Amino acid sequence: MKALVIGNGAREHVIAETLKRSTHKPEIVSYMKANNPGIAALSTDVRIGSYGDLAAIVDFARKRDVRFAIVGPEDPLERGVVDALLAAGIPSVGPIKICAQLETSKVFTRKLLEKYNIPGNPRFRIFGSLDGIADFMKGLENVVIKPDGLTGGKGVMVQGDHFGTKNEAMEKCRAILAEHGSVIVEEKFDGEEFSLQCFCDGTTVAASPPVQDHKRRFAGDKGPNTGGMGSYSMEQRLLPFMTDNDLQEGLRITEQVARAIQRETGSSFKGIMYGGFIITAKGVKLLEYNARFGDPEAMNILPLLTTDFVDLCMAIIEGTLHDCPVNFDNKASVCKYVVPKGYGLPSDHPDAATTAAKIEISDASDVQLYFASVDRRDDGLYMSSSRAVGVVGIAENLAEAERRAEGAIGAIRGPVDHRADIGTAELIARRVEHMNRIRNLKRS
Ligand code: GLY
Repeated sequence: MKALVIGNGAREHVIAETLKRSTHKPEIVSYMKANNPGIAALSTDVRIGSYGDLAAIVDFARKRDVRFAIVGPEDPLERGVVDALLAAGIPSVGPIKICAQLETSKVFTRKLLEKYNIPGNPRFRIFGSLDGIADFMKGLENVVIKPDGLTGGKGVMVQGDHFGTKNEAMEKCRAILAEHGSVIVEEKFDGEEFSLQCFCDGTTVAASPPVQDHKRRFAGDKGPNTGGMGSYSMEQRLLPFMTDNDLQEGLRITEQVARAIQRETGSSFKGIMYGGFIITAKGVKLLEYNARFGDPEAMNILPLLTTDFVDLCMAIIEGTLHDCPVNFDNKASVCKYVVPKGYGLPSDHPDAATTAAKIEISDASDVQLYFASVDRRDDGLYMSSSRAVGVVGIAENLAEAERRAEGAIGAIRGPVDHRADIGTAELIARRVEHMNRIRNLKRS
């Protein structure tokens, strides 16, 4: 059996590795935008090309006679890669374009929840001009503003982080309207976030352990937002600030969304529904959905998956997920991204130019390593300007998982940086205190 992996990041590296662990012993072929040496080492064939070149992807999949494809990033989903492969008789783990709107259109998702009375939406409105925005914002304590489509994580602007006052919010709205023609204005939530990555065959939804991601570049949640500096999950599943009720609320929302998409589009969502949720004083709310695994969150859950991944992929494709129990090891995981020192920094920062440098990894015996933006040359591994390597510690408890990740990172030489605080007792205590304050507020 051959499986096609589309994508070239650490997320796709762990996807390929998890497929390789299957008892079906699939041959992996991979289509990447840039060569990832970790994925290439697991693949019998590699094609480098654009995610927009659907004909090249289909041609590669056909010539290699793949049984199914699994799509890592959102970009090819938005371009309709799953539709193109299906037309050639090749099914995918990943939604067709109309269903991928769950991620590619924030308006689609907010309206879907509203239309089907699914809980989790903030108070929100969509505007095609500045008319009425100021009035709407008056009723909200703090606001979030965003354009409709994919923005590579850079489109969402949050009061307190990206702008201070409502007047500044109006200016941001004006800029978004000029560029995109519409703007979504929402109430800002206060709470703790969790990522719930669910497998979905169109009807059945199976959750993986919840994960908490860390977007800010520096320890203590300081500095600019990034693609994600690292994440953790717990051996007893629930994150330390979370109740089982919180988890069930997130899962119930996702189950209702799966049914609503089917009714709205007439098509089944087959793939990963990854809800970005926040636990607030008023219960669990939806920040956004992604139509794929999270990066870094895939590195937390896939190494713990004990269900055969090929069986799980086939159950998603064939609509038999109800017959496929989805199980995970009861272990904790801590993923920390090793990044070039200059990653995410403004161009005038003294470290900003520290990017395309060589790194040496001397001891990774205690951890899983997943390559992201690295290039293997004759004389070794080189970083580019983006996140370089995901280092994942897995253990019976969080403290040991964190210790393992830190130990391996200490053995990486080069001009690198990482967030030493991810998964530490100190940071977890702050999250718990924050959540307690919010829950107490509700009681008082
Ligand atoms: N961890 C954020 C994302 O994958 O979009």
